[in-house]
Amino acid sequence: MLCLLGPSGCGKTTLLRTIAGFEKPTSGQVWLGGKDVTRTPPEKRNTALVFQNYALFPHMSVFENVAFGLKVRRWPMREISSAVKEILDLVGLSGLERRWVKQMSGGQQQRVALARALVIRPSVLLLDEPLSNLDAKLRLEMRTHIKSIQRSLNITAVFVTHDQEEALTMADRIVIMHQGRVVQVGAPREVYATPNCTFVADFIGKSNCLRGIVARDADGPLFIVNGGPRVRLEGAAVAEGEAVLAVRPEELRLDDRGAASETENALPGILMHTTYLGEMAYHHVRLEGGSMLMVAEYGKQVRERAIDEEIVILWPREAGTMLRS
Ligand SMILES: Nc1ncnc2c1ncn2[C@@H]1O[C@H](COP(=O)(O)OP(=O)(O)O)[C@@H](O)[C@H]1O
Ligand SMILES: [Mg+2]
Repeated sequence: MLCLLGPSGCGKTTLLRTIAGFEKPTSGQVWLGGKDVTRTPPEKRNTALVFQNYALFPHMSVFENVAFGLKVRRWPMREISSAVKEILDLVGLSGLERRWVKQMSGGQQQRVALARALVIRPSVLLLDEPLSNLDAKLRLEMRTHIKSIQRSLNITAVFVTHDQEEALTMADRIVIMHQGRVVQVGAPREVYATPNCTFVADFIGKSNCLRGIVARDADGPLFIVNGGPRVRLEGAAVAEGEAVLAVRPEELRLDDRGAASETENALPGILMHTTYLGEMAYHHVRLEGGSMLMVAEYGKQVRERAIDEEIVILWPREAGTMLRS
């Protein structure tokens, strides 16, 4: 399960259509299962595409919609019947063969679209933002459902989404795209823990991206945030010069006892406001010099704190990722 992730307009659909063969690349090649298919027409690529709007035939029954691809391929009726039945079982629609598609809910139509794509046994299943027309609760259910179907058929899938949470939960590998280019590829944990640029650091999860300069003194490397604050870094080799230090809100803590350990930086700031989300909260702190830092607290740690008061942020030396821009 590969997820193409990026903001709207970055080229995800175009790339998916290029894989399916509906779009011709001006340069580069498309390889499927070890074969160069750049010049192979779409109907010979054995890919199946599921669209955001499902693109079903509203006046046909569920059966006719799902059987369509097999009829085009001139399968015998008997085999069509058993293949359709099998796939409807799999997507949880058995017994609804005779229903009209236009009488079904969004979630059911989504399952019909999935069944129609899967019934031809494609070598790659291509899904273009398939969940974005469903309400939030159903979207979560369908994530798990699609993932388990994909696992049980052991099929390769390329899943397009602009939703980072969807990508993190569904993907084995994520391809992050920005302005028509692939900017990073990796497992969910990898791209979250080690973003390779500020775009990725910001797009996946929340990051504090601080601009400043990497310098070195007698005690080792440090990062001087624009405006003055200093962050002592882990002794590892860090190239000197201008950089961005990206740190996750959950890597930081607020100091309540006034006791930074030897391996922590203590940065004074002013608490500007708190975003309270129930199970967690984000505290927005202004550092000396004007940079803002978000600090996350979870569960029982979440406390109401006085606004406009001085506060100290604890920053472990090993926290954060150094980025070149
Ligand atoms: N590699 C590319 N080269 C040139 N134009 C592109 C490329 N990728 C996307 N586009 C153009 O950018 C626009 C948005 O692309 P689209 O694939 O619809 O983005 P997304 O699905 O991520 O929202 C389209 O007009 C498309 O033609
Ligand atoms: Mg798109």
